[in-house]
Amino acid sequence: MDLLSSHRSVRKFIDKPIEESLFQTIVKAAQCAATSSHVQAYTIIRVKDKENRKQIADLAGPQVWVEQAPIFLVFCADLTRLESACHQHKLGAETGWAEQFVVATVDTALVAQNLMVAAESLGLGGVFIGGIRNDPEKVCELLDIPENAYPVFGMCLGYPDQTPGIKPRLPIDLVLREDSFSGIGLEKKASEKSLDAYDQTCRDYYLNRDSNLKDQTWSRQMADFMGKVTRPHMKSFLEKKGFFLR
Ligand SMILES: Cc1cc2nc3c(=O)[nH]c(=O)nc-3n(C[C@H](O)[C@H](O)[C@H](O)COP(=O)(O)O)c2cc1C
Repeated sequence: MDLLSSHRSVRKFIDKPIEESLFQTIVKAAQCAATSSHVQAYTIIRVKDKENRKQIADLAGPQVWVEQAPIFLVFCADLTRLESACHQHKLGAETGWAEQFVVATVDTALVAQNLMVAAESLGLGGVFIGGIRNDPEKVCELLDIPENAYPVFGMCLGYPDQTPGIKPRLPIDLVLREDSFSGIGLEKKASEKSLDAYDQTCRDYYLNRDSNLKDQTWSRQMADFMGKVTRPHMKSFLEKKGFFLR
């Protein structure tokens, strides 16, 4: 409980390598995540090559921590092993279904979150990197990611050289309902009040944290986020990789 409640993304690392055996232990623990129908539809690429790291760091932002982190991983949703199983058993593969996209993407997210928690439990810190989807085609080219696999996000890991404040999450009464989506939960007025209070909590957090101070509320940030198109290339990219065709 303490570990989960003290999560914060870490973007600055001390210059200390992570022992190979420790890393393997973390990956093995991460693999124990639940997986839809036992498909384990993911592949994790550890990017060691310096030039590739630099190029990925640049296209992701730039985000210097991608270059500097002792470990940088790219998590791919991956249906290629399942296709191979079909070939092995001389059976046809039904590919391109939206459901398979969901299954592979969820599996990838679960193993990644497990990996983050396992790493944190051993004193490491890290951050997910969705920024790699700024140019997913380039990431595929650099890392040789084939059709029926795609890079979902990256992850930096290392021993923390910072202790950022813990970012407040939504009040539980806004995210937990009983019996139906709108069911026993908060009345509209109470829910607006709860959100206002959360906005204020986030505002205080952003005004008082150690770096990147800003006067911003959560709802305003979300309105800005939803008000602009982000990565419009994703649909055609996924289709090109064989996902989401039907
Ligand atoms: C899928 C995903 C992608 C993310 N991408 C980035 C990223 O590209 N760069 C970054 O600095 N943080 C990234 N983050 C970290 C989030 O900004 C961070 O988790 C969120 O603001 C909450 O902060 P906390 O993790 O410190 O609690 C990502 C997180 C997730 C789950």
